[in-house]
Amino acid sequence: MAEIQPETMKGATLNIAAENRAQLKQLFPTVFTETRNDKGELTESIDFEKLKAELGTFSDTFESRRERYGMEWPGKKEALHLIQSLSSATLKPCRQESVNFDTTENLFIEGDNLEVLKLLQTSYYGKVKMIYIDPPYNTGKEFIYPDNFSESLETYLEYAGLIDGKGKKFSTNTANEGRFHTKWLNMIYPRLYLARNLLRDDGVIFISIDDNEVSNLRKMCDEIFGEENFVAVFPWKKRTTKSDVPFGVSQDYEWIVAFTKGELQAGVAYERKYYQTNDFTGDRWRLSDLTKQTAAAERPNSAFDMLDPKTGKLYPFNPQRVWAVTEDTFPEYYRKGKIVFPDDYDFLNITIPAFRVFESEDKVKAIRKFGSDEAMKAVSTFLPKEIGMNENGNKEMLDLFGSKLFSFPKPVSLVKYFVSMISDTSAIVLDFFARSATTAHAVLGLNKQDNGSRKFILVQLPEPCTPESEAFKAGYNTIADIGKERIRRVINKLNTEQEGKLDLDNAGKQDRGFKVLKLDKSNFRQWQKLEPSASTEQILDQLSLHIDHIDPKAAPEELLYEILLKAGFTLTGTIETKTISGKELFSVSDGALLLCLEESVTNELIDAVIELNPQQFLCLDRAFHGNDQLKANAVQTFNAHNMQKEKHNQILFKTV
Ligand SMILES: C[S@@+](CC[C@H](N)C(=O)[O-])C[C@H]1O[C@@H](n2cnc3c(N)ncnc32)[C@H](O)[C@@H]1O
Repeated sequence: MAEIQPETMKGATLNIAAENRAQLKQLFPTVFTETRNDKGELTESIDFEKLKAELGTFSDTFESRRERYGMEWPGKKEALHLIQSLSSATLKPCRQESVNFDTTENLFIEGDNLEVLKLLQTSYYGKVKMIYIDPPYNTGKEFIYPDNFSESLETYLEYAGLIDGKGKKFSTNTANEGRFHTKWLNMIYPRLYLARNLLRDDGVIFISIDDNEVSNLRKMCDEIFGEENFVAVFPWKKRTTKSDVPFGVSQDYEWIVAFTKGELQAGVAYERKYYQTNDFTGDRWRLSDLTKQTAAAERPNSAFDMLDPKTGKLYPFNPQRVWAVTEDTFPEYYRKGKIVFPDDYDFLNITIPAFRVFESEDKVKAIRKFGSDEAMKAVSTFLPKEIGMNENGNKEMLDLFGSKLFSFPKPVSLVKYFVSMISDTSAIVLDFFARSATTAHAVLGLNKQDNGSRKFILVQLPEPCTPESEAFKAGYNTIADIGKERIRRVINKLNTEQEGKLDLDNAGKQDRGFKVLKLDKSNFRQWQKLEPSASTEQILDQLSLHIDHIDPKAAPEELLYEILLKAGFTLTGTIETKTISGKELFSVSDGALLLCLEESVTNELIDAVIELNPQQFLCLDRAFHGNDQLKANAVQTFNAHNMQKEKHNQILFKTV
């Protein structure tokens, strides 16, 4: 037992100012706030105008302050800029660390999740069904990655040791800046904002959090997701032993805050207002978006001009957002009264046809928002008692690694529970604060249980393991290394679990693999320096002006993945190599994209490509060797082809 020692006397005199502030805080806690000082550092400050108001002396400045409802903190504006600035990075594939690289649809991305979320915006926009995250809780003990507003990729490259081989250390949130809410809010806000874009319209996000930030998180989610899309706060019991805390109340619970994406991002946002009309006396109804986040090329059957049978008016389809019904299913929907045309009711102010959703349908849907076998039964916010606690998470790591690599990974049963609330068993599940990869473990395990084909995308910073940590002693340099190793071990375990033998049958059918990608700077020089406001179109156009702009060390596969990301293709579509007209081409997603990285192209190749009718054809600009005639000819050949085709059957031709 530690010897009981008298408190050592401190030589320093009382810090009177600090003492006064502490007393003031005791009396008027609401006047204390967080601001940035002239040097841009965060400090705790006193709102003197508010203090005067508390003392009954309202000043003019205080009186004229604009009151408004909402959430403000210093840095919110910069956080918004950060969201809008484009990433100048890429994701480099890493075959040797992956399992079943060529066939898997699971991803493990190593990097800062802000940059990664930005990079995924084009390819994964509206594709993710469920997000589970367990971000830093702002306990004051954990590391919060510093977002450098102007050069976030540079910061990352230094951090990950990709610039000089030596990783740069950043202090924890406590070390010299205090545990500010502001810092945490600035960290989480842009990430949640970008994450929402990746969700499908019917997608849902679950966020683990504890008492430190739960109230801020909920407010922020109200702002980002809309408070009407709030689902629940699920309490999760994390321990049975009582902890020693002020006020004698042991905080044994954490929270899982859940929001749906709702329909805000849909093509048309309709007010959620029910109408009662004479034609449907039994049920009230509301409007909902009749377009879908799908391009005409992906869904040609839904790309048709919709005719209002009553008026004969024609409503053309939007090639970027086709109808949510097909030409064949439209008559049936119309017959059932599910489609409302702009001329149907005088009181409606709509310009294109909309869906009619009956109140009775909403009631059923509200209950099974996440869909489940027990569709009609509401789920309680109280989690079933089988859900594990922190100790189960520790044990799961111990079982896999034989030692406790770090404290408090979430138990697999907790993440499984939320993933299984989603009825879609082929859903994409994203976790961008992955650490020990519990979410991958949950997805792979659940797929084995119910023969599902859910896919995961995990993102984790290569946060260095401290030299004194058990993980470091066990040979792991970074937390990302542990995450990847866990997935490998889980895959081995699942593959061999069946009666101790390799369950080849099942292993063959299920996706027991994952593709590792790492955040790095772009392989294309001009993509490394982008104007924050440049659009993808501008970036692609700008490319043709430069010769020799490709990093000579970049492997073709690295160029391929960067182009996939920037051209909006997922990173897990089929990729084949084809020899066409004597040239090697990458054929992506069953030929939707044809990419030629050869050093020269010919007229014959262009003709052969047109025969194959891809959505996009990309080749190197330098492959024309400055032969403007050849280039102009290629452009004209594609133009001539496109002129004879409907928009969704045209071929987009670009050079890189
Ligand atoms: C609370 S832990 C997640 C625990 C995880 N659910 C588990 O079961 O092990 C949060 C993780 O987020 C990671 N992280 C923090 N900032 C990040 C960032 N900017 N990008 C990616 N990962 C980050 C940290 O390295 C840490 O591993």
